Amino acid sequence: SSGIRINPSILAADFVNMRAELARIATADFVHVDVMDNHFVPNLTFGPQMVERIQATSPVPLDVHLMIDDPDRWAPGYAELGAASVTFHLEAAADPVALARTLRGIGARAGVAVKPATGVEPLFDVLDEFDQILVMTVEPGFGGQSFMADMMPKLRLLSDEARRRGSGVWLQVDGGIAPGTIEQAAEAGADTFVAGSAVFGADDPDAAIAALRASAHS
Ligand code: DX5
Ligand code: ZN
Repeated sequence: SSGIRINPSILAADFVNMRAELARIATADFVHVDVMDNHFVPNLTFGPQMVERIQATSPVPLDVHLMIDDPDRWAPGYAELGAASVTFHLEAAADPVALARTLRGIGARAGVAVKPATGVEPLFDVLDEFDQILVMTVEPGFGGQSFMADMMPKLRLLSDEARRRGSGVWLQVDGGIAPGTIEQAAEAGADTFVAGSAVFGADDPDAAIAALRASAHS
């Protein structure tokens, strides 16, 4: 994979000032949109109607992270509304490869995510079916949690395997990413970084994005 991407998570934004919040992260590569259904995770955010409005409003393409049950049924709708990437959880999908092919067929980047307890080995033989793989560095559900450094060996295993196979798949991390943790994730092979509180908790979100980008490169 080439380059570094910083994807601020709007889970940490002010939901009733979304247009202004989106304008504060114009230097981001993608806007990370956390969709939660109160079933796959114990928290609830928003669904396709809200995401469609965010899509219409955002100057930056959308990176949708679906923390929902039955993504086989619901994920294609997010690709159809124009999200640049749609990531579903491996634990929730009945047929991950078929779903990834459907997402690509609609024109989105296809992503698959793994929770902390889920191994990445089952993905090794199907790496080419995905455009990005998300290694969670917290238990999904909430922003502001501590980075799980013990996920780094799993990330390293995946990045080594991707390199060995000549795969161009992007490797994404999500949860507790900030200056001070992003370096470890970059070192272990991540190239795409989700950050919620580290960006929206800053006085100047674009400066926070620049600082994360610099730390990931160092
Ligand atoms: C957690 C979400 C994350 C969250 C990250 O389930 O998937 O995207 O917004 O928030 P921070 O960066 O605050 O850990
Ligand atoms: Zn997320």
